[in-house]
Amino acid sequence: MFYIILLKKLKMKALVYYGPGKKSWEEQPKPAIKESTDALVKILKTTICGTDLHIMKGDMPEVASGRILGHEGVGIIEEVGSSVSNFKKGDHVIISCVTSCGKCEYCKKGMYSHCEKGGWILGYMIDGTQAEYVRIPYADNSLYPIPAGSDEEALVMLSDILPTGFECGVLNGQVKPGDTIAIVGAGPVGMAALLTSQFYTPAEIIVIDQDDNRLAVAKTFGATHTINSAKENAIEKVMALTNNRGVDTAIEAVGVPPTFELCEEIISAGGHIANIGVHGKSVTLHMEKLWDRNISITTRLVDTVTTPMLFKTVQSKRIEPKKLITHRFKLDQMIEAYDTFEHAAREKALKVLLEN
Ligand SMILES: NC(=O)c1ccc[n+]([C@@H]2O[C@H](COP(=O)([O-])OP(=O)(O)OC[C@H]3O[C@@H](n4cnc5c(N)ncnc54)[C@H](O)[C@@H]3O)[C@@H](O)[C@H]2O)c1
Ligand SMILES: [Zn+2]
Ligand SMILES: [Zn+2]
Repeated sequence: MFYIILLKKLKMKALVYYGPGKKSWEEQPKPAIKESTDALVKILKTTICGTDLHIMKGDMPEVASGRILGHEGVGIIEEVGSSVSNFKKGDHVIISCVTSCGKCEYCKKGMYSHCEKGGWILGYMIDGTQAEYVRIPYADNSLYPIPAGSDEEALVMLSDILPTGFECGVLNGQVKPGDTIAIVGAGPVGMAALLTSQFYTPAEIIVIDQDDNRLAVAKTFGATHTINSAKENAIEKVMALTNNRGVDTAIEAVGVPPTFELCEEIISAGGHIANIGVHGKSVTLHMEKLWDRNISITTRLVDTVTTPMLFKTVQSKRIEPKKLITHRFKLDQMIEAYDTFEHAAREKALKVLLEN
């Protein structure tokens, strides 16, 4: 009897990737502390990212078969390694999608995404959060404490989508008061860019997607114009809205060639194209049109350096990312949750939340 209980405790359920299109919710060994800087976290809430869909599509062949996916979530600390000093057993934490040692040259520059010992590894190079338990390396710098009484559903959006939309889209896109901006892609990440761009009061925010439901939601989140690029000519419409100038900032939040090329077409002289999307295919850079346009193009893997700042805006309800959650599931309904997020237009889905 004791033996069975012990065995049970060494196992957990997790979402395992077995190559493009193949995944399974199944029993796996429960992770354990490996390094003194690790924490073992019991997942309370997690979610699925557009990046997980890219992995499932085969856009990221570097992901090994057998990998547990997921890089977002909140949880409760089950155990900490001997040198973790910021957290203890029982603490509630936000898990950052980016793991950072806080000590290497890149971390010192605030570029956690390229931490020499971490970066984005969770649910990618090491096992992730779509599981009952996850091992978090460099816990002191990769977890954020949750004060008692916080709305933990809203805080799941701080693992990835809010810092991503803000850092890669809004900050890199240099959004300023009075600007006209376009956000291409109204998924959770595009919506996070939409919410956080409004810190800077742009005059016009044009959101472009092919999903009418997501576009309608974007309107309620502050989009001044929406364009369904499957039904309308997005380039002509943006030009008509901007006196043929184009937009000051074009934020790409999809990750396919046509949407990046759309940004190239609609950018005004002096504008900024801020890429967020994870790309699995090469994109044509139209230098024959852009060489004299004084534009900038940026790419970025989210650094999550703005998480503490964004945390305050969520806690004060200055922004309400919880409104992005459209579907709730139990953790062991993971396959159903993937199906819902993969068919977002059919299901009218934005962010799906899974609870343990
Ligand atoms: N740079 C980073 O650090 C980082 C971090 C997280 C996510 N991402 C990436 O951000 C992107 C968005 O993530 P998400 O979770 O919102 O994904 P998502 O799949 O939910 O959203 C993508 C949206 O793009 C729309 N779309 C697809 N093809 C289109 C087209 N041709 N024209 C217009 N719209 C189109 C879809 O309808 C959907 O609403 C993904 O590529 C994801 O991998 C990047
Ligand atoms: Zn992500
Ligand atoms: Zn580092």
